[in-house]
Amino acid sequence: MTVGLLRTKPVERSIADTEEPGHRLRRELSATDLIVFGVGVIIGTGIFVLTGRVARDYAGPAVAFSFVIAAVACALAALCYAEFASTVPVAGSAYTFSYATFGEFPAWIIGWDLLLELGLAAAVVAVGWSGYAQSLLQTLSIGLPEALAGENSVFNIPAVLVVLLVTGVLVLGVRLSARFNQIVVAIKVAVILLVIFLGLFFVKAANYRPFIPPPESNPATEGLQAPLMQVLFGITPVSFGWLGVFAAVAIVFFAYIGFDIVASAAEESRRPQRDLPIGIIGSLLICTLLYVAVSLVVVGMQNYTRLSQEAPLADAFKAVGQPWVATVISVGAIAGLTTVVLILMLGQSRVLFAMSRDGLLPDWLAEVHPRFGTPYRTTILVGLAAAILAGLIPLSTLAELVNIGTLFAFLLVSMGVLVLRRTRPDLPRAFRTPLVPVVPILSALTCLFVMLNLPVETWLRFGVWMALGAMLYFAYGYRHSRLGRRERAASASTR
Ligand code: ALA
Repeated sequence: MTVGLLRTKPVERSIADTEEPGHRLRRELSATDLIVFGVGVIIGTGIFVLTGRVARDYAGPAVAFSFVIAAVACALAALCYAEFASTVPVAGSAYTFSYATFGEFPAWIIGWDLLLELGLAAAVVAVGWSGYAQSLLQTLSIGLPEALAGENSVFNIPAVLVVLLVTGVLVLGVRLSARFNQIVVAIKVAVILLVIFLGLFFVKAANYRPFIPPPESNPATEGLQAPLMQVLFGITPVSFGWLGVFAAVAIVFFAYIGFDIVASAAEESRRPQRDLPIGIIGSLLICTLLYVAVSLVVVGMQNYTRLSQEAPLADAFKAVGQPWVATVISVGAIAGLTTVVLILMLGQSRVLFAMSRDGLLPDWLAEVHPRFGTPYRTTILVGLAAAILAGLIPLSTLAELVNIGTLFAFLLVSMGVLVLRRTRPDLPRAFRTPLVPVVPILSALTCLFVMLNLPVETWLRFGVWMALGAMLYFAYGYRHSRLGRRERAASASTR
């Protein structure tokens, strides 16, 4: 049994599976497409919504430090991701990498984890989108009733609509969605640059003092809400100070999620070995610079205690008497968040596709559309699930659950680089992680550190989801695995 759980899918087998008729995705993305794709998914709710909340409740003006620390964690992980992506250029990202290194069960676990990350993140961003849409509708005096839009709604209609719209675009094909993405990414980056350059005129030095506010106890971060690290070390939970900056890292980490999804488009890129590392590292770099600049400008424009929770970038401009800029930002945010939902769902449908193609989930799911060349069944399934989640759940603490799932995936990928260097030193690696084993080990430790700064209840929820996944594997995947069936057939024929 243990042997079965750790059966690994050879890299060559993974690549060969992508060539099978009926399971083949179209190869048409360039390096620039991948960077646009990366920036398209990275810049989203994190910078547009979470910055204000985090500065106000955890870090003060030092939220810029939190962005830098989170970027370092992501950069280390990105260096590991890039090596993997250039070695195993197959749909499914970290799931596929783990299948080639750790074995089937750990790969299932990571795939299951990615489904949580991407599905939930798409729903979270769709809810954020609906908040901005509602705010714009209100400006036009046609706002929806509270029960039908925004974070406190009973059923969030705009969030469901955006998810269904995106599902339609994805089923029609990657070419359409890549072009659609390029336009929207341009708008989004323009809006972010507008915030930075116009905002500079309204920055007041007094708002930066104190840059790291002194620690203070906060009832909202006690009990199950307390970061696990503070509980483990018996520290009374606090906000602000360096511990607050670290707690903020665990939340703003959400703002960087997405560069890993570039790797999930491996199979659809023209020269994956060269272009994936460029796409992953390039998009991460661009976003880091923009985030640090935006967060410094916003906390300089408005005292951190007064930043808005829902639309901090727009509201900072309202606060300095520039409502027209706020409207432009809201329009940009609506457009920008749409692409985030789009790419998160694209990533999730590809992971689900890869898992089904391997037989760990029913393989009828892995059918590619005869005309559009897209994995339409997984796309529709993912779309429906995300629409239901987006319709019914508020965004608040879900981002933390997304973060823990992503960090766990990063941790495994970092370790995977070490394992694959040892088990398959022969494989061609167009991109090699520098300073092995230092970078992968540092990456794993940093991810663990950020994870420890997440609340206890996030760890509990994550544990429940993973336990469910393990049960499903033993009930279905273990017996239906394509690799397992092949191995059984081979051993029967040699007998
Ligand atoms: N990084 C993406 C966002 O901030 C998921 O919305």
